[in-house]
Amino acid sequence: MRHFIDFSDLSLQEWETLYQRFEELLAHPGDFRDAARGRALGSLFYEPSTRTSFSFQAAMLRLGGGVFSMNDPGVTSVSKGETLKDTIIMCSGYADIIVIRHPCEGAALAASLHSRVPIINAGDGGHLHPTQTLTDLATIIRLRGGVSGLRIGLCGDLKHGRTVHSLVRALSSFEGCSLSLISPRELAIPDYLRAFLRSNGQRYVEVTGLEAILPQLDVLYMTRIQRERFADPSEYDRLKGVYVLTAGKLRGAKKDLLILHPLPRLDEISADVDADPRAAYFEQARLGMYVRMALLMRLLEQPARTLPPPTAGHPSHTCHNPLCVTARETYLPALIHSGFCAYCDKEVVL
Ligand code: NCD
Repeated sequence: MRHFIDFSDLSLQEWETLYQRFEELLAHPGDFRDAARGRALGSLFYEPSTRTSFSFQAAMLRLGGGVFSMNDPGVTSVSKGETLKDTIIMCSGYADIIVIRHPCEGAALAASLHSRVPIINAGDGGHLHPTQTLTDLATIIRLRGGVSGLRIGLCGDLKHGRTVHSLVRALSSFEGCSLSLISPRELAIPDYLRAFLRSNGQRYVEVTGLEAILPQLDVLYMTRIQRERFADPSEYDRLKGVYVLTAGKLRGAKKDLLILHPLPRLDEISADVDADPRAAYFEQARLGMYVRMALLMRLLEQPARTLPPPTAGHPSHTCHNPLCVTARETYLPALIHSGFCAYCDKEVVL
């Protein structure tokens, strides 16, 4: 059973095939209108979403499939205390494929342990968001021909931004790009990601100022400061508004700079940038539907399981990250890889 929990679930060869399908879908969408006829997508959103949930639903409908969805856990049995495991066992009996967004880090991996059908991670807390990464990569490749040789700046809340975490990991699997990680020191990338970049030999710099580095960038990936992930609201108030990209600041930037943003944007890109031909974030959101169509088609090609897989191991509390799914779903087996929790990637201190 193949799930899509992070970009690394695809080989680079599979990514290339997916990208080709994405281009075919864009060029000839009508050719695929029956590709998922009779199939059902279960869309489970335990956290707010606009683009991701809409684009998945639209993707499934455009492939001829159907969708049932939970957008508010408050109106389902989740509010009565149902475990993630039980919800997934039940839903995977109704759906051919499930897309899940959840506030806990590692929730999609946890769901995949109990599902008869493929699970797609649509965001697990502040951890990962790999279908946004498919969107980001497809946009860069379509508009710039590839990622090799590009200097890519990622700016904003790099600590909590799950789109950044997934994108940085994915970019490290391609040759030849360099990363400029632009954030206040308090919102720098997590340690596990820095360790990942180092062990992969990825070229990167970490800086706090946007304006000084802007003229060197080929791609600027702006992100919002993630208010909902701050333990201390006053810390959010201190850091919000730290970066604001304006038309004026773009005067010194490259003529073919690509400005991306996973959206929603708050004030980090001012409205006067929207008319700049370098602003590609709305096109990026549009392309996201097509790349999700390609992903749904790929995962739906697999036969469904008849029974959920058994889960090996014992319940554990070895992960000390309070945001890890194992803190809430305490029946989950311990999964530790080289000293890191497989659910949330945080270091496990035994
Ligand atoms: C992002 C998310 O949910 O992580 N949005 C999205 O899916 N396009 C980014 C964000 O919320 O800031």
